[in-house]
Amino acid sequence: MMLKFPMLWLLVFSLSPFSSSARPAPYALRISCGARDNVHTPPTYTLWFRDFGYTGGIPYNASRPSDITPPLKTLRYFPLSEGPENCYKFQSVPRGHYSVRIFFGLVPDSDFDNEPLFDISIEGTLIYSMKSGWTKQEDQAFTEALVFLSDGTASICFHSTGHGDPAILSIEILQVDNKAYYFVQGWSEGLILRTAARLTFGTSKARFDEDYSGDHWGGDRYWSPIRNNADHTLATDHRIKQASDAPNFYPEALYQTAVVSSDSQPGLTYTMDVDPNRKYSIWLHFAEIDDRVTGIGQRVFDISINGHPEFQDIDVVKMSGDRYTALVLNTTVAVNGRTLSINLQPKNGGSAIINTIEVFEIIASEFKTLPEEVSALQALKSALGLPHRFGWNGDPCVPQEHPWSGADCHLNTTTNKWFIDGLGLDNQGLRGFLPTDISNLHHLQSINLSGNNIHGAIPSSLGTLTSLELLTIDDNAGLCGIPGLRPCGPHLSASAKIGIGFAVSLCFLLLVICSMCWWKRRQNILRAQMIAARGAPYAKARTHLSHDIQLSKHQNHGHSRTAVENGPSLLS
Ligand SMILES: *[C@@H]1O[C@H](CO)[C@@H](O)[C@H](O)[C@H]1NC(C)=O
Ligand SMILES: *[C@@H]1O[C@H](CO)[C@@H](O)[C@H](O)[C@H]1NC(C)=O
Ligand SMILES: *[C@@H]1O[C@H](CO)[C@@H](O)[C@H](O)[C@H]1NC(C)=O
Ligand SMILES: *[C@@H]1O[C@H](CO)[C@@H](O)[C@H](O)[C@H]1NC(C)=O
Repeated sequence: MMLKFPMLWLLVFSLSPFSSSARPAPYALRISCGARDNVHTPPTYTLWFRDFGYTGGIPYNASRPSDITPPLKTLRYFPLSEGPENCYKFQSVPRGHYSVRIFFGLVPDSDFDNEPLFDISIEGTLIYSMKSGWTKQEDQAFTEALVFLSDGTASICFHSTGHGDPAILSIEILQVDNKAYYFVQGWSEGLILRTAARLTFGTSKARFDEDYSGDHWGGDRYWSPIRNNADHTLATDHRIKQASDAPNFYPEALYQTAVVSSDSQPGLTYTMDVDPNRKYSIWLHFAEIDDRVTGIGQRVFDISINGHPEFQDIDVVKMSGDRYTALVLNTTVAVNGRTLSINLQPKNGGSAIINTIEVFEIIASEFKTLPEEVSALQALKSALGLPHRFGWNGDPCVPQEHPWSGADCHLNTTTNKWFIDGLGLDNQGLRGFLPTDISNLHHLQSINLSGNNIHGAIPSSLGTLTSLELLTIDDNAGLCGIPGLRPCGPHLSASAKIGIGFAVSLCFLLLVICSMCWWKRRQNILRAQMIAARGAPYAKARTHLSHDIQLSKHQNHGHSRTAVENGPSLLS
């Protein structure tokens, strides 16, 4: 029965004429970190895949840091012994625009640092550094960003900052409209928008798009309730026009609550803490749901951000076209200080209204490292048996705040690709060998491998690296093959050595047996010749001879039956 119900529902849904006109469902991948099996969560029977095979780390039971986290029971954490960078790499993600959301977890064990702080990157770009106190604020239990994924993969990494072990509850990769949150100035696929705040006014309920029956193309946004007792709240059941439209598909319910400024304090101000010296994209939502406002010109206000006027003479009824109709304004601001303050100032003695505010930090995507250099470093990582503490996961050069240890990175500003021009792996107790792929590090100028236990030949392909000026390799007794080192003998594995030893012994044994045969045979011939010389027929002599030998053997070694039976075969 449990299985039949959703299938029946699916059948009914797919037969309905409504579905044929609807847009195909967006790509959605949800991961329950540390889960042994796929999980379905209430109330919408949402499917979360287990994360087996995506990454290292340790699965563990979770305690949920806030009420809004999905009701999942497990997490995955990454102790420092597993290295400073740990990544999930998802394959076969269709090219598109995505909302990526990561919920943080807490390990319910007093031995662990209770509030881990770490950095999160998506596709090599650092999107968020966690702030202390995050466990006490609902909307800080996750980080979320809008990113373009163009190469079929999604790489999400967690970078230790020395404050506890990164612990992850869930990862969601939800496709949104390609034009979602499109803003004209400088908008491109090279930009990431990290959600800094998403607020709904006039309600005390935290909500996700799903709770509002929002369109799946909206990316299941989380809306934090904001309620200030001094302001007058409004709520309506009236339908709202132009709400759930492309590209952003805002749930209609967002426009059904609002706050308006009171007569005693005519302005509305919202202030939040931000990171300084960043750019923010700000989206303001309005719908005139106040019965007292019946037409154009009755509520007009100006909007300023950090004191700078951004929008003049906002008249929601006029600009949206009607009452109960959604209006969305967006603007981009640079913020030098640590606060972002949005002020709505009414004109003509009226009041201001606001339904929803969204604030995104605008982040420029990092450029990536040349793919062949990444593969070369990965080959080097396994050939040298690099210990976990090196990390060496994700991209070698980005995020720039967390490059791979030992790799010196440079950006080619013509191609916008990072390359490696130096490797410092001295005194790391490395025991492996140098792979030939190392010659794919075409820009290497120096490698320092001194003070390790590296063995085997220096790959001759290293000679093709024209820019290589410095190869230090002291104190690696096992290295060979260039002037100043011992010449390379054949390099044999242990099993090859055993094989050769065995073959040599076998040859020696065969040689001994053959020479014994030859000696015996020669003795017999000599004896036969002696008998023939005495006049007996050769054939008879043979018979007698064999009899003689058998007899003599019986006499001499009475115990040896084998020797008797072997007698004739030795003679034939
Ligand atoms: C995790 O939870 C399950 C069931 O809730 C329990 O059986 C298991 O022992 C727990 N594991 C740890 C490490 O606490
Ligand atoms: C954002 O604002 C710009 C004007 O500043 C406008 O051209 C653009 O269409 C707006 N984006 C959306 C999705 O409304
Ligand atoms: C950057 O790349 C271009 C094109 O491949 C190349 O000509 C140039 O030499 C490179 N610059 C550096 C500093 O490697
Ligand atoms: C390589 O590392 C060793 C040991 O740390 C150091 O003594 C040596 O100066 C380094 N060589 C270069 C060229 O940096």
